Amino acid sequence: MARLLVIVHAPSPNTKRLFEAVLAGAHESAIDIVARSPFEAGPDDVLAADGIMLGTTENLGYMSGALKDFFDRSYYPCLEQTQGRPYCLFIRAGHDGTGTRRGVETIVTGLRWRAVQEPIILRGDWREDFVQQCHDLGAAMAAGLEAGIF
Ligand SMILES: Cc1cc2nc3c(=O)[nH]c(=O)nc-3n(C[C@H](O)[C@H](O)[C@H](O)COP(=O)(O)O)c2cc1C
Repeated sequence: MARLLVIVHAPSPNTKRLFEAVLAGAHESAIDIVARSPFEAGPDDVLAADGIMLGTTENLGYMSGALKDFFDRSYYPCLEQTQGRPYCLFIRAGHDGTGTRRGVETIVTGLRWRAVQEPIILRGDWREDFVQQCHDLGAAMAAGLEAGIF
């Protein structure tokens, strides 16, 4: 069974809802789902996964320190072995999100992971439809892994 690794930094009630939404969407498919905070996740999780979903807040123009810490610990142990891994990304940003997108894309370009969907940037004041967008992202990622099309 395909395995999806979901790594989300969720420091606020709203971002926790987004984390839960991507998981709920992913659970619509018959795949194995491993959910971690970036502080818990490490290279072994990535090596064991067929696809990766990333989620982070934007803080001070960049991804959360937690997600950066995950990459710092995982980059070299994964570099030679995870090229081509499908991934997707959502960003919760109070007003921007571009610095976070650039930062994550720079790192995953180095890793040669493969974006299977445009990153979602949930920008501005909180909106309830952010939850549905994250649900759909999780559902699409998991359905693609289940079908073996990634
Ligand atoms: C220290 C700090 C720095 C932040 N920096 C940015 C930023 O550079 N760009 C941005 O769009 N939002 C920024 N934000 C807003 C967060 O992205 C936002 O609070 C977070 O996504 C949680 O949103 P929520 O209140 O809807 O849960 C910052 C928030 C904090 C606490």
